[in-house]
Amino acid sequence: MDERQWGAVDAYFTRTIVWQDGVLESALAANAAAGLPQIDVSPPHGKLLYLLARAAGAVTALEIGALGGYSTIWIARALPPDGRLVTLEADETHATVARRNVARAGLSEKVEVRLGAALDLLPKIEAEGLGPFDFVFIDADKSNNANYLTWAVRLSRPGTVIVVDNVVREGAIVDAAASDPGTVGLRRMFEMMAREPRLKATAIQTVGSKGWDGFVLAIVE
Ligand code: SAH
Ligand code: DHB
Ligand code: MG
Repeated sequence: MDERQWGAVDAYFTRTIVWQDGVLESALAANAAAGLPQIDVSPPHGKLLYLLARAAGAVTALEIGALGGYSTIWIARALPPDGRLVTLEADETHATVARRNVARAGLSEKVEVRLGAALDLLPKIEAEGLGPFDFVFIDADKSNNANYLTWAVRLSRPGTVIVVDNVVREGAIVDAAASDPGTVGLRRMFEMMAREPRLKATAIQTVGSKGWDGFVLAIVE
């Protein structure tokens, strides 16, 4: 088994059926030029977010963790013209790059990039009545994933689709020796999901250009 093959297969999928256009390519180029970490979702995973949001008929979407807005653009493109996506980003440089990429994608009307720590911003989003959201993508600091899941459910309605990125982390989730805050936070999130009767959930492992990882897919009852 060779990790380079995982990347080659992702590249094959990307150039055949994913249809990553110049706007998405230039968003990645702008991220690199600004020195952002290259931890965006892969193109096939971005397309999956688009397809899930489309399949759910999402009009409103919430993203926690924008980085340079690559996943943001995929999700926003799935929303109808009157759709609205709010994405939360704690890093000022990341938020600035994300706004620029979203603008270049022609999505500024649909997308609002809010700067701040998500746990500070989420109560304001609730107070402003921006929910319920039809689609939620959780992809920020993994140590807070249990808190983000609580907020995602709180800002949801029956039928809301919730996706959580990076839930495998090269197997760390089941590695008893892995006790970093991210992995601990991830396990707390799984324990919470296990006890949350309002969620129907699964987790899928993936290999690809970003190595061995996976995502949670959940629907609110
Ligand atoms: N969703 C993006 C990748 C996000 S990377 C994509 O796939 O294109 C994770 C992002 O979460 C980083 O930009 C990081 O700055 C941000 N982040 C970390 N802690 C945060 C917090 N407490 N609140 C909001 N954003 C946070
Ligand atoms: C990291 C974060 C991500 O959201 C991701 O998809 C991959 C890596 C990280 O913090 O290392
Ligand atoms: Mg991620």
